Amino acid sequence: MSNVHVIDHPLVQHKLTLMRKKEASTNSFRRLLNELAMLMAYEVTRDMPMQEVEIETPMEKMTAKVIDGKKLVFVSILRAGTGILDGMLSVVPGARVGHIGLYRDPKTLTAVEYYFKMPADMHERDIVVVDPMLATGNSAIAAVERLKELRPKSIKFACLLTCPEGVAALQKAHPDVPIYTAAIDRELDSHGYILPGLGDAGDRIFGTK
Ligand code: URA
Repeated sequence: MSNVHVIDHPLVQHKLTLMRKKEASTNSFRRLLNELAMLMAYEVTRDMPMQEVEIETPMEKMTAKVIDGKKLVFVSILRAGTGILDGMLSVVPGARVGHIGLYRDPKTLTAVEYYFKMPADMHERDIVVVDPMLATGNSAIAAVERLKELRPKSIKFACLLTCPEGVAALQKAHPDVPIYTAAIDRELDSHGYILPGLGDAGDRIFGTK
């Protein structure tokens, strides 16, 4: 699959397996998601632009590289995106944050927007949209469509888990948006859940039902 990056690192895969277990507590699910998001941030930010600055070590002056974290925006799709956002922010603390509130209409499974708040100057920024589950793709497609209206420099999509249907839908609607994920599971069920998956990510992060 083009433009899909499966982060097949042993640490990522190990943590994902622990999260999938139905007996994982809310506490450990949240902690693992946080750790996994930090590891994913490593791949997602691999091609971030760098700039050179003059610094002084205890030994001498040198020119060294730094990233301009402020140009990066993590856009979290509420509410489950928060789980990934926290982990990513802990490794890129200078990043800006936007939120999109979308709920899934239980009958049509389409995305309905109820909240949209972004930093200023989005046309100067690189965006990473975060949502743990890329399932039907409807929320991801709606979020990217809305963000493209702001003409950002680039958009990536990062999720914990997806399925062939979700990848195909997002790629068909937005072939220019690379997808980063820890795994592509077998299939989507008739209720829009990923199989074998990990259940409802929002409920598992927040301990709701
Ligand atoms: N959202 C979830 O939280 N889980 C799924 O399996 C699909 C969508």
